[in-house]
Amino acid sequence: MPLEPSGAFAPGRVNLIGEHTDYNDGLALPFAISAGVTVRAKAARPRGGDRVAVHARDLGESDEFALASPVRAGGWRDYVRGTVAELARAGFPLVGAQLEIAGDVPRGAGLSSSAALEVALALALIALATERRGESPVELDRTALAQLCARVESDWVGAQTGLLDQLASLYGAAETAVWIDFQTLRIREVPLELGGWRLAVVDSGERHAHASSGYNQRRAECWRACELLGVSSLREAEPQLLERLPEPLRARAQHVSGENERVTAAVAALRAHDEEALAALLNASHESLRDLYEASTPAVERAVQSLLEEGAAGARMIGGGFGGSVLGLFAPGIRLPARAREVRAGPGARVL
Ligand code: GLA
Repeated sequence: MPLEPSGAFAPGRVNLIGEHTDYNDGLALPFAISAGVTVRAKAARPRGGDRVAVHARDLGESDEFALASPVRAGGWRDYVRGTVAELARAGFPLVGAQLEIAGDVPRGAGLSSSAALEVALALALIALATERRGESPVELDRTALAQLCARVESDWVGAQTGLLDQLASLYGAAETAVWIDFQTLRIREVPLELGGWRLAVVDSGERHAHASSGYNQRRAECWRACELLGVSSLREAEPQLLERLPEPLRARAQHVSGENERVTAAVAALRAHDEEALAALLNASHESLRDLYEASTPAVERAVQSLLEEGAAGARMIGGGFGGSVLGLFAPGIRLPARAREVRAGPGARVL
């Protein structure tokens, strides 16, 4: 008799480099972190019930809705309702469930708490339904699942994000960075062995919410740049073609093009164990995000500056920007600032 699955865990992520490239068919190099979201799942009571009851432990809030017809309710509830709706739409047979959500990724800090939530919910709901129906666990297509979770983000929460966060959470592995080509959705594992160098994040203290930040505006600018250039994505635009664009579209497109090159250079630096070169690439990425993409804020700038002053060899904002966390790379022997939190690449999402 198979044991009832008790839920699922999905990690948050840190993007080592490759920012605002995912929705431009570009390249990125994120890794899964050890912090994440755990969803505990039990069959609904009474058995066979067709409702989903969910408790968000960290918020002390609950929700309940009919499995067949979730509608928007606002806030965190839309992640749950949206995941149920998108799973059903994709043909996953679901069963009534009691869910409990708990996590240790800070919300709104640019470490992908929302992707971790969507992925953990999806895995827990699929595993529970599979077990209840007496079926053996299915081999899931992780890329398709990432796309499903991204639809929750865009169609239910209103943030037109790319696939970076969900793919990092689903494909992450210990001591490994995940190289992603968003044009082909090809994924490669790159060993994240830093020879005693350490990565650490600091929260800028500024909350960011993609839906209300400049994120959607930047996306729209990239689309407009493509329209003007007659290409279907910025990946296809030759760097010299970008000169034709009016500002600020030219600057946005130049960031994307340069950032793709920096991802390729970062993979080479990791393979060569050249952490100095990696640190320089992090600094260049930040400068480009600040000056060309204009996705920084005074609080983010202060956080980056203080990491550099406290000994980081390289530092940059991570995630969507307009707030959130910054990442620093520290040479062996350099003490991490007290408020910095060391991050290492950990395993990806899994059923518990
Ligand atoms: C957020 C989005 C991602 C990606 C990054 C920027 O984290 O969720 O899809 O666009 O911003 O690189």
